[in-house]
Amino acid sequence: MPPRFWTALCAFSLGHAVLAARQIAPRATASLDGWLAKETTVARTGILDNIGSNGAYAKSAKSGIVIASPSTDNPDYYYTWTRDSALVMKTLVDLFKNGDSDLLSIIEEYINAQAHIQTVSNPSGDLSSDETAFTGSWGRPQRDGPALRASAMIAFGQWLIENGYTTTATDIVWPIVRNDLSYVAQHWNSSGYDLWEEVNGESFFTTAVQHRALVEGSKFASQVGSSCSYCDSQAPQVLCFLQSYWTGSYTLANFGSSRSGKDANTLLGSIHTFDPEAGCDDSTFQPCSSRALANHKVVTDSFRGIYTVNSGKTAGQAVAVGRYPEDSYYNGNPWYLCTMAAAELLYDALYQWNKAGSLTISATSLGFFTDLYSSATPGTYSSSSATYSSIVSAVKTYADGYMSITEQYAYSNGSLSEQFDKSNGIPTSARDLTWSYAALLTANMRRNSVVPPAWGEASASSVPATCVATSASGTYSTATNTKWPSALTSGTGGTTTTTTTSKSTTTSTTCTTPTSVAVTFDLLATTTYGENVRLTGSIPALGNWDPSSAVALSASKYTSSTPLWYAIVNLPAGQVFQYKYIRVESDGSIEWESDPNLAYTVPAACTTAVTLSDTWR
Ligand SMILES: *[C@@H]1O[C@H](CO)[C@@H](O)[C@H](O)[C@H]1NC(C)=O
Ligand SMILES: *[C@@H]1O[C@H](CO)[C@@H](O)[C@H](O)[C@H]1NC(C)=O
Repeated sequence: MPPRFWTALCAFSLGHAVLAARQIAPRATASLDGWLAKETTVARTGILDNIGSNGAYAKSAKSGIVIASPSTDNPDYYYTWTRDSALVMKTLVDLFKNGDSDLLSIIEEYINAQAHIQTVSNPSGDLSSDETAFTGSWGRPQRDGPALRASAMIAFGQWLIENGYTTTATDIVWPIVRNDLSYVAQHWNSSGYDLWEEVNGESFFTTAVQHRALVEGSKFASQVGSSCSYCDSQAPQVLCFLQSYWTGSYTLANFGSSRSGKDANTLLGSIHTFDPEAGCDDSTFQPCSSRALANHKVVTDSFRGIYTVNSGKTAGQAVAVGRYPEDSYYNGNPWYLCTMAAAELLYDALYQWNKAGSLTISATSLGFFTDLYSSATPGTYSSSSATYSSIVSAVKTYADGYMSITEQYAYSNGSLSEQFDKSNGIPTSARDLTWSYAALLTANMRRNSVVPPAWGEASASSVPATCVATSASGTYSTATNTKWPSALTSGTGGTTTTTTTSKSTTTSTTCTTPTSVAVTFDLLATTTYGENVRLTGSIPALGNWDPSSAVALSASKYTSSTPLWYAIVNLPAGQVFQYKYIRVESDGSIEWESDPNLAYTVPAACTTAVTLSDTWR
């Protein structure tokens, strides 16, 4: 054992080394973490303030109605848009599923409100046509709204089913979802206005989210004991049409416009159809696909030369991103939600590469990669390679750069408007835009590897050989049932949960919105040489009870007196799951731990790390 003074000296110099490392570390990252910790609270509050009738800025809106912004003049955004509301609500549903249980009543009120809105007559028709009651001059019909609303509602419907409330999902949620799916199946092949409400034609964002809605809609239909033949017949054709937006070097935002077609619409399309279980599929423009990455470069580069706030930022450095370079609305400025979409797409790609254990550079995506790593060459790089590590680290820095731009141009109290001025960076246009706050929360979740559930891309990515112009009619009915069970709680109606495990928690000093929690599984298990221990359970992160996808435990702390095996798994706050350990013998045979299953709920709230202490049974 070394003498005491040696230990003290060692600690002293270690302290210096840490200090030195801190000084060289990029300042932006340190400050971004701190800003996001506070900004996620501002964003959550900002959203709730804009939802009637309890929201501070939405007192005159009906219960469950999401207003686009409190701004009533120049511009007047005191309206509800189906698209904005659905994207915001999908974000709240994901937060709720991750343990933010206070959001339940707002989600129920939103669903009640949508049941009513679907029946409101307006100049474009009623239930089976456009579903916007606004009679002003915005471009309509907007065919992305019903698809996005279906996805938001399905996300909540899945939670109901997982927690034993299938009847509620069937009686309340499904009738509303079915109207939206019917609308999509009937109208996807008709022209409409794009998400910016300007181009009347066909829009990448709209087609992409329609495909997703039909795919997950079909699965949801079967979960509630029904079916969606019109989803099944149309989804492959929507995917077929989606391919036509690919120009060979970037994704065309719209047909029916004389613009360049370079547009953040395409970044938003990829992030809102991101599926954590998908491969880097070009057909669905997944974030890690060659198409999405090549397009990310083309779209972001199109804003480098036109905004003063971007001057001096060369390719590969994050920039402020607007809707499209030809934009003249409010003089044409960067938008917060577009800038953060550029970040979110990269965080999604990082998640997908990490899951795949490799990344691929193709001729198509080479330009994206060389901006960040000059010696990039086409090939597949395993996560154990130095090239992979360098690229992943450069992509993370690049993504954080977009978030830091948002931080730089947000109000100092954290308020996010719709836009910030291209010359001086001052916030402009509508104040406290609800969608800006939702964009902050989803980008922050992806940054923490907190991802939404899969929507079924893995079995819906193959493109039919021939595209046909088609449509199908579904079923429309007025959704009237809004009788929610009094106290919905996670875990009640569902499967039996069993033993509890002892736990100790480490909490951070500031409480942020749910993010991933590092869960350490400590297991005392005496093993023989050649025997290994794995962990499996009811969720994808633990291999869905499939021993071949189970998480390997490490024996690096194992001693004969303390036979400790452990693994650290990042899981979403609030995640409910069951698990069990398995022994894998040197010949590959498996021994399961005895029943019952262990059960655990990852804490929501302030906890950032937790340790479970188990003993082999
Ligand atoms: C309808 O689908 C066909 C086949 O994919 C496509 O060529 C056509 O442009 C589509 N039209 C609209 C309006 O979506
Ligand atoms: C933040 O500051 C801006 C500018 O002073 C102001 O308009 C906005 O209302 C403030 N937001 C909050 C949440 O206080």
